Amino acid sequence: MGEADAPFGLLAELTHRCPLRCGYCSNPVDLARRDDELDTARWRDVFDQARALGVLQIHLSGGEPLARKDLPELVGHAAGLGCYVNLVTSGLGLTPERLAGLRGVDHVQLSVQDADEAGSNRIAGVRAFEAKLRAAEAVRGAGLPLTVNVVLHRLNLDHVGEIVALAERLGADRLELANTQYYGWALRNRAALLPTKEQLARAGEVVAAAQARSAMEIVYVIADYHEAHPKPCMHGWGARQLTVAPNGDVLPCPAAGVIDGLGVENVKDRALADIWHTSPAFTAFRGFDWMRDPCRSCARRELDFGGCRCQAFQLTGDASATDPVCTLSPHRGVVDLILAGAPAEVVEHRGVVR
Ligand code: SF4
Ligand code: FES
Repeated sequence: MGEADAPFGLLAELTHRCPLRCGYCSNPVDLARRDDELDTARWRDVFDQARALGVLQIHLSGGEPLARKDLPELVGHAAGLGCYVNLVTSGLGLTPERLAGLRGVDHVQLSVQDADEAGSNRIAGVRAFEAKLRAAEAVRGAGLPLTVNVVLHRLNLDHVGEIVALAERLGADRLELANTQYYGWALRNRAALLPTKEQLARAGEVVAAAQARSAMEIVYVIADYHEAHPKPCMHGWGARQLTVAPNGDVLPCPAAGVIDGLGVENVKDRALADIWHTSPAFTAFRGFDWMRDPCRSCARRELDFGGCRCQAFQLTGDASATDPVCTLSPHRGVVDLILAGAPAEVVEHRGVVR
């Protein structure tokens, strides 16, 4: 078991409720219902405990955090602790008035689904594009830094140049172009979302040219199924960040609930610091001692930490296996078979939780 430093960030999933129904959503297929959500007092206590543990950044996310009526209080509390507060939002309902009430937000991350209205609404499963443009205007009007986040896949990857232009028009300081990671609903819709190699090659060139010329910071998250080595998921298990799910479950990453037998604990039952330091869910894959070969003796293990535990579990049934994306993994054939599979045409939109 590796030693745990203080976590840097807390991803607070305040709710799974969301007005959008994106087929690439990485939230669990079994979404937490409103009745199961932590109440205001409990979230305040979670923030207090997180700050005492060393957390400096609180990401208020979901679902859609604006669905919580107590969001102004939660923002104010997190800011009062001296944390950097990042609001991760679909933008629906983010009017100038609502934003003015969220005193203490330091940064807004706005999701956008595509470069134009028809494409964007098709992916979101609802008419949301216009509201997103207005939300971006509200953020800029409030003088807050804006990141536009776009999840990339087969349906929008060919529009990446137009997406860059849209983000520039919206006045974004930063654009995150993140190829889909296959968890939750995205895993269910994987066949319809997987891009082709050619699409990725073209998009890569467009992004590189935009990065060279744009004043905006452009971050490109690779499509890891197509790579030779996996992504350094979470910068290592239980290393830098923790997630608290709407019901209070404390997870090393947002998708970790998929791993059977992980021993996930809840803030209602145990102190956050104890969970971070000693919970089996956090210690299982912390550090390097849990690794088997080929990772154990691999020179890259401190670069990629053996890849993603959730992906290893989803694709091999063994969370301690080398991420099958790695060409050194004995399971790489699973990924190659997926890439060779025929694409499905239909995206199933995630359900709406109330
Ligand atoms: Fe990374 Fe393990 Fe592959 Fe080495 S064998 S590159 S550590 S995933
Ligand atoms: Fe869970 Fe990568 S998403 S470890």
